[in-house]
Amino acid sequence: MNNFIYKLEDKLKNIIKECGYDTDKVSLVTSSRPDLGEYQYNGVMNLAKTYKKNPNLIASEIVEHLNKDNTFSNVNVAGPGFINLSFSDEALINYMNEVKEDININKCASKKKKIIIDYGGPNVAKALHVGHLRSANIGEALKRLARCLDAEVIGDVHLGDWGRPMGLIILELKKRHPEWVYFDESYTGEYPSVAPVTNKDLEEIYPIASTKAKEDEEYLEEARIITYKLQKKERGYFALWKKIIEASVSNIKELYDKLNVSFELWNGESDADKYIEDVVNYLKEKGLVYESEGAQVVDVKKEDDKVELPPLILVKSNGSVSYETTDIATIWERMKEYNPDEIWYVVDNRQALHFEQVFRVCYKGGIVPEDIKLDFMGFGTMNGKDGKPFKTRDGGVMTLSNLIDNVKSEVEKKINKTLDKEEQEKISNTLTCAVLKYADLLPNRSTDYIFDIEKFSDMNGKTGVYLLYSTMRMKSLLDKAKDNNYSMNKVTGIYSTYEKDIILKLLEVPSVLEKSFNERTLNYICDYLYELTNTFNSLYASVKILTEEDPIKRESYLSLSEIVFKTNKMLLNILGIDVLERM
Ligand code: ARG
Repeated sequence: MNNFIYKLEDKLKNIIKECGYDTDKVSLVTSSRPDLGEYQYNGVMNLAKTYKKNPNLIASEIVEHLNKDNTFSNVNVAGPGFINLSFSDEALINYMNEVKEDININKCASKKKKIIIDYGGPNVAKALHVGHLRSANIGEALKRLARCLDAEVIGDVHLGDWGRPMGLIILELKKRHPEWVYFDESYTGEYPSVAPVTNKDLEEIYPIASTKAKEDEEYLEEARIITYKLQKKERGYFALWKKIIEASVSNIKELYDKLNVSFELWNGESDADKYIEDVVNYLKEKGLVYESEGAQVVDVKKEDDKVELPPLILVKSNGSVSYETTDIATIWERMKEYNPDEIWYVVDNRQALHFEQVFRVCYKGGIVPEDIKLDFMGFGTMNGKDGKPFKTRDGGVMTLSNLIDNVKSEVEKKINKTLDKEEQEKISNTLTCAVLKYADLLPNRSTDYIFDIEKFSDMNGKTGVYLLYSTMRMKSLLDKAKDNNYSMNKVTGIYSTYEKDIILKLLEVPSVLEKSFNERTLNYICDYLYELTNTFNSLYASVKILTEEDPIKRESYLSLSEIVFKTNKMLLNILGIDVLERM
């Protein structure tokens, strides 16, 4: 690994070996006592225990070696064997110039793994809501992060396209348009190629059908029958269903476009349907399926469970299959077609039990070998200022498209109105996306958070607007320097503490990425971006960069600015945020 801290950890490990001690992992961590050093090594205590030796003795042996190495400056021991160290300017400058050549060395590659990420999870014919926003934002960012660390990642949207809602929609359409050819059982010709409904119709019809089903048992039963017949691919229903999917998916794609979210696979629950029979038979042959109250179920409980897990219902008593079965069949399909090392699910925390049951059946039945990781990455709820799930002003359900519109009208206030209309529109779209993403990715994935439009659209503070504004300023600084033909080939020195702060911050990139990846949460990257941007803004506010008279110094400032700009761009890109040139 090529980056600074990792290389030094290796070096330190060798030094420790030379001193006669064996240790498997050496970590240098940012110092908790910056007055004593920039980084510290805290492993001496363990060595002292293993080798039954005085920690200060071991520490001083190591320090003696470190002092001979010109990468380090000011190495000292504090307390019982805590080694503090700082880096020499020369080492830092050299490293910065390597990063300047190739920004990619300042990250760490993980093992090359094949990962499928199941995220997005919108439901056909139902408006996407804010929960779908979180899945899309977090899933997309995790996908980009994993790719940045060298994994091969396939994103699958896993459309909800096969359950009762489909039956409800079709039933309601049948009630309204009984004359449609889709409902004529004697019809054998081709069905029309144009969809008979728009997405808008669907979003209006679904809530009506859903309410009716709750109030009217007969209606519900009709919907059940239609769902069943659809799943058996009855000709007319199936043809209409395809048209419904078409109308809905084009709208879903438009929304995801606005969020910089895209998928390699547009599969849905329906795609796993063809494997359901195989899966059920397979599990039966394994002897895992038994009958309970008319349903076919599989036990998933384990002895050491604190809360007893109910059996997973594979086939309901009415013969239809459950959401669980669809997910098992989808895993079956994914294993067969892609043979991944890991499958990740970015879904609301409230589905944790569902996935626990599904995963257990997959492992228990050998559908997935033990060494393949099925990983549920639950996320918390986005709440309104009242701490309750986000609602519209009049108390209705906040759809994703409502939310995007609201944020957009808020950020429009920040835009330079002298730019031409088309550019203003582009800027407000980019800003809207930035606000939504940064706010959504800033809290730890699994916690609930409060979405406050004004706060998250502010020019100052931890917001997407602040980051984009600051990054844009870096870019325009670099552009002006280019216009003046100022050279910015390399970092030539460290002339102030501002630069030192920036450089030390830049050393953290690999560990921030690694931590985010290991914990599958983007908050570390979000915090880091804010901190790095602040260190740069301090330099910007305190030093005249473009008007610096000494060309060597100016070159250094500009070079460092370029590294920060590229780093910001790289990290924002992981979050799914584009940078702006003007606003
Ligand atoms: N469509 C589901 C929902 O809206 C989410 C799907 C999550 N993915 C999965 N494989 N079950 O709640």
